Amino acid sequence: MFSSQVIQQLQQHETPFYYYDLNLLQQTLNACHKAAQTYQYHVHYALKANFNLKVLEAVQATGFGADCVSGNEVKAAVAHGFDSGKIVFAGVGKSDKEINAALDVNIFCFNVESVQELLVINDLAAAKNKIARIAIRINPNVDAHTHHHITTGLEENKFGINTWQLDDVLFTLKDCSSLEFIGIHFHVGSQITDLDVFKQLCLRVNELQNWFEQKGLTIKVLNVGGGLGVDYYKPDTNTICDFNDYFKVYHDHLQVKTGQEVHFELGRALVAQCASLIARVLYVKNGQAKNFLVLDAGMTELIRPMLYQAHHEIENLSKQDVTAATVKYDVVGPICESTDCFRTDVPLPESHRGDLMALRTAGAYGEVMASGYNLRDRVESVYSQDAYAGNITLV
Ligand code: LLP
Repeated sequence: MFSSQVIQQLQQHETPFYYYDLNLLQQTLNACHKAAQTYQYHVHYALKANFNLKVLEAVQATGFGADCVSGNEVKAAVAHGFDSGKIVFAGVGKSDKEINAALDVNIFCFNVESVQELLVINDLAAAKNKIARIAIRINPNVDAHTHHHITTGLEENKFGINTWQLDDVLFTLKDCSSLEFIGIHFHVGSQITDLDVFKQLCLRVNELQNWFEQKGLTIKVLNVGGGLGVDYYKPDTNTICDFNDYFKVYHDHLQVKTGQEVHFELGRALVAQCASLIARVLYVKNGQAKNFLVLDAGMTELIRPMLYQAHHEIENLSKQDVTAATVKYDVVGPICESTDCFRTDVPLPESHRGDLMALRTAGAYGEVMASGYNLRDRVESVYSQDAYAGNITLV
């Protein structure tokens, strides 16, 4: 529920835009920071979830590290004040240019996803006379029980190194004098709401770290990735994730040896709730079989419903009378694709051209996945404190 002051503020701006509640963002970051500190866990923020400037500023000020998946994300993290000693870099397809950029700023660690990548990083580090710290991203074959497009830890997924290749990793590492092995990395998927998945991951990590230690390697860092899901159905009441419960699963089930650090890479759980996509109704099309609300935002601004059948609550901010009779609408965008539909049969108060609409819980993988398809304008951002309005700028 937006307050009437916020709705008044939103009415001033040209739609569509992302609206960020910076107070809620700060509260979420604080809750996570506090819970992580209880166990002395290290949190890296997954920039891919949202690299909006204000979001990066707030996350950096909280003291989190950065989890990056491209050379540009590494550069953006450094440019926004993240300590390069707290930057990790994952991704199955790191280019030489990206690896070199990360070596130049001495990032904390490369999370390596193939045997061949080990050799490439070793050669590039040697050419710069540097030692690159690396962790092996292992595909643990743990089912995240989430949408198949955002599952990453099964053998059929392209991510990480499968356990049957680990002997080859050890063999290769022996010849890589420009690499320093510091630990193992995992990430089994995103929007995980069943905490038992994380318990299963812990059990697998315990087995695998023992395997490495039996082979004589010391594990300094256990990086267990991110993936904590949010409640897309209750944006007002179930707003901040229970980070205590989440970290407690690791505390209870992960074997942490003396001197080891435990690292996390959270994206969605930190930023999903703080933003909504705000749009206006352009046209109401009443048909015999269907009523359509055509918005001025579509899959070019928020593609999650079309890619992952993701649910976002939809509200008509111009019709605040909760007792009004409802009509079922298919809420669609203006893009020339049939898939450009946010949701079907949404019960909403009778709506009209010009009404202001909110698609909630859109802070993670929303603005960052916007595209220019149909030569659309870049989507703007508006902030609760009204400090700045513009769009995401890459460094
Ligand atoms: N670490 C790695 C290696 C990852 O690949 C990801 C996300 C994360 C951490 C952060 O995961 P999170 O805590 O945000 O779940 N576009 C999709 C989500 C893709 C997630 C990609 N990897 C969506 O909109 O649902």
